[in-house]
Amino acid sequence: MSVPCRPFLALATATASLGSLAQAQILPAPPVPAGNPLTAAKALLGKALFWDEQLSSSRTVACGTCHVFAHGGGDPRTAASLHPGYDGSFGTVDDSRGSPGVVRHDAQGHFVRDAIFGIRPQVTPRKAPSPINAAYAIELFWDGRAGDVFRDPVTNSVVLPSGGALESQIAAPPLSEGEMSHIGRSWTAIAADLANCTPLALADQLPAPLQTFVQGHTYASLFQQVYGSPGVTPTRIIFAIASYERTLISDQSPFDLSLVNQGTLTVQENRGLTKFRGLCATCHTDVNPGVLITGPVLHDFHNVGVRPGVEDPGRATVTSNPVDMGKFKVPGLRNVALRAPFFHNGSRNTLTNVVDFYALGGQFTFDPLVINIPGQLSAQDKLDIVAFLNTMTDPRVAGELPPFDRPRLWSEGANTPTVFGVGTTGSGGFVPGSVAVLPAYAGNTAYTVGVDRVPGGSFQFLVWDLFANTTPTVLLGQNVYLGMTPNLIFASMPQLTSGTGPGDGINQYSFAIPPGFAGTTLFGQWLTLDPQGPNGMTVSDAFGLPLF
Ligand code: HEC
Ligand code: HEC
Repeated sequence: MSVPCRPFLALATATASLGSLAQAQILPAPPVPAGNPLTAAKALLGKALFWDEQLSSSRTVACGTCHVFAHGGGDPRTAASLHPGYDGSFGTVDDSRGSPGVVRHDAQGHFVRDAIFGIRPQVTPRKAPSPINAAYAIELFWDGRAGDVFRDPVTNSVVLPSGGALESQIAAPPLSEGEMSHIGRSWTAIAADLANCTPLALADQLPAPLQTFVQGHTYASLFQQVYGSPGVTPTRIIFAIASYERTLISDQSPFDLSLVNQGTLTVQENRGLTKFRGLCATCHTDVNPGVLITGPVLHDFHNVGVRPGVEDPGRATVTSNPVDMGKFKVPGLRNVALRAPFFHNGSRNTLTNVVDFYALGGQFTFDPLVINIPGQLSAQDKLDIVAFLNTMTDPRVAGELPPFDRPRLWSEGANTPTVFGVGTTGSGGFVPGSVAVLPAYAGNTAYTVGVDRVPGGSFQFLVWDLFANTTPTVLLGQNVYLGMTPNLIFASMPQLTSGTGPGDGINQYSFAIPPGFAGTTLFGQWLTLDPQGPNGMTVSDAFGLPLF
């Protein structure tokens, strides 16, 4: 069976020649701005950058940390990652769920207490939408604040007068102090920093074409190869990542195949599709054949009433127009079944919960398209719609097959720090907690570990060992996990915590990872002088830093 001819065929061929699309292309190739032509080499460079945790100043977060393809381009950590929302306090009804980024830190790599997250990784206030098929949009982010015109993030001059929404979006996360950046980072510094990095030095299991591409290169030499002249510049970094995203086109779901008669939906799925086209597709237009074919999609913004607009004004933060309060970009629904939890605040765990939400007519909205839904969805309709939504999953996305194949991140591998055991209860009932989140590779001269939930103004000793046990030895009322190996145990100098009052203290210790210990694990536990603890002290849980 042949795919119907489409007027975009010239572009489609260009994309297919990247070698990333094994199957017939069903969606049109996404638009490519004239100022950033798409080449196979540039897309590969972008793929390296997208999956490189070295793009963050803490070396802990890549774009792909928060955008995981097996999860439809969303973040599997979202369900367990709380943001306190509008009122700033946890455990209230406006809490949202997002993506953990970096511990707030300065240019030297020292932790800096954040008002909400302390010295723990900060969580974004919104859930991560997908970069897959984002190439069709002319406005990105839930509120559409990344627009079509791309400006150089250093000079602010217009680089792409149109078609640059991806580029505009990419300029943001590397500078975001919650997501990837130290306080006060600049794009000039990012580019200078990256030039000397070995591409994907922290990742492993690289797909073969990517491995061949980066092998033996620094970023500087890759940029020379891709752009034909030397220079790792902010715009070139951004252009490469955008080019990669233009290859992330998902159009091989059972639903897509049925559109071109290469498969059929079941009777139930078809009933769901019909119902969906009647009630939902006025907003979710991407399920209508022809919509993506006419060109870039101007995603509409709507308020379906997940939460009151005052909590997150959404589109109104961009337009300053009160009618846009609480409006968010209508998300494309391809691969939605992989992307739980749902909505901008991650508030609904399952597709059934989402459909139930619509069946009640939304909560905080006056949009007639939503408030008229109640009464139009029988129990069977709801099941049918969910069955239909499950046909939108592209097996290449679910299985991370080309073009959705990727390296394994450091954060997914064996070299991540572990925190284990149980510390002792001290002042105010708080148990001191170790914070060990950074990659302990040789050459990391600004390695920082921390402790929180200790009394403000108390003294800490950080005790180290090369061995530890998973079951503690109880010494002076404390759970000691360190092996207490003669000659190997050592303690860092006592330091005074910042903070005031019980549980409010934080402390940290920075050092250079010694070379030559790759393969060993350094263990630590914080000892605090706390009059309320057994024998006038407490210990934290233990941490292990695999050196590599
Ligand atoms: C710490 C997690 C995190 C990191 C790191 C991150 N993102 Fe995101 N991404 C998000 C969140 C959260 C949003 C939604 C933010 C909003 O709408 O205000 C988002 C939005 C997006 C969107 C918009 C999708 C749409 O439909 O509007 C794209 C594309 C995207 N990110 C790509 C990237 C790229 C490329 C990088 C690396 C340069 C990156 N992200 C780094 C969490 C992250
Ligand atoms: C008035 C326009 C509108 C209508 C009608 C509508 N939606 Fe939505 N839909 C949206 C918007 C806007 C969002 C994002 C809302 C948010 O996160 O606050 C959304 C989000 C979703 C999501 C979550 C996607 C994600 O990635 O989190 C699903 C699933 C969904 N809608 C399915 C449906 C179904 C099924 C129907 C019909 C019963 C429907 N929608 C009707 C506009 C609409």
